[in-house]
Amino acid sequence: MTAPSPLGSPELVLALQDLAERMARRAGALVRDGRPDRVAVAATKSSAVDVVTAMDLAAEELLRAMITAERPDDAVLGEEGGLTGGTSGVTWVLDPIDGTVNYLYGIPAYSVSVAAVTGQPDPATWTVLAACVHAVADGRTWTAGRGTGAFLDGVPVAVNDARPLAESLVGTGFGYTVDRRRAQGRVVASLLPQVRDIRRMGSAAMDLCTLATGGLDAYYERGLSPWDLAAASLVATEAGASVTGLRGRAAGTEMTVAGPPATVTALVRLLEEQDADTDRP
Ligand code: IPD
Repeated sequence: MTAPSPLGSPELVLALQDLAERMARRAGALVRDGRPDRVAVAATKSSAVDVVTAMDLAAEELLRAMITAERPDDAVLGEEGGLTGGTSGVTWVLDPIDGTVNYLYGIPAYSVSVAAVTGQPDPATWTVLAACVHAVADGRTWTAGRGTGAFLDGVPVAVNDARPLAESLVGTGFGYTVDRRRAQGRVVASLLPQVRDIRRMGSAAMDLCTLATGGLDAYYERGLSPWDLAAASLVATEAGASVTGLRGRAAGTEMTVAGPPATVTALVRLLEEQDADTDRP
């Protein structure tokens, strides 16, 4: 019997990246091929517009089954099924459909997001080792391994060079509750006159991967969950982005800001002035 690769070793990163990609593509095929003409809402979560479809549940089940078959000692944190413990030190962080509202409406910006992390599955302290974000509708597939780069369909990617905020295309997203949205509306209104334009695509993972590929100059959002962030934050970081929070904190639920380092410095300053890491109306 061969000894398991130490956590963080190049062999383990490669093996996890390979599995992440196979998982995301398999779940993506299920999500794509199983989409009815009219998708029904199976349940709601934080508010009436925070929805779960039957396919979110089925895709997460498939992802979990693949982990059980190939790496039964790993822990899993999934958007729909929560945390299942493990003993290996590796936790899979899964978003079976990131962009569920787009999926519901047939807008083709939704993705399967799969990451392998070590440490607590908490963005403040985890180390993301391997990642795959698979855009279900058009098949684009971003992969990354810690220290080994970020790729779109196997081709290395890099963020844009920093440009002034006034010339920067900035992606963002909004939460599902009224108070959060009121605050986010105030913040985005203050930014809009100071940037090239704002984009809201509806899948945080795809926003960060688009940034990694030069399709956005910067991105920020308050309220991301670990599964929205895990895989795409590694893709963005490995593509040369700085991914951070406000006031010296790590990226996470309070706030995530990403882009070339100089752009992030400028954007962080504006967001801090606006208390964008609070729900102040
Ligand atoms: C949502 C999307 C959206 C972002 C929300 C997320 P879900 O994830 O990523 O773009 O603005 O914050 O919750 O609910 O589609 O998995």
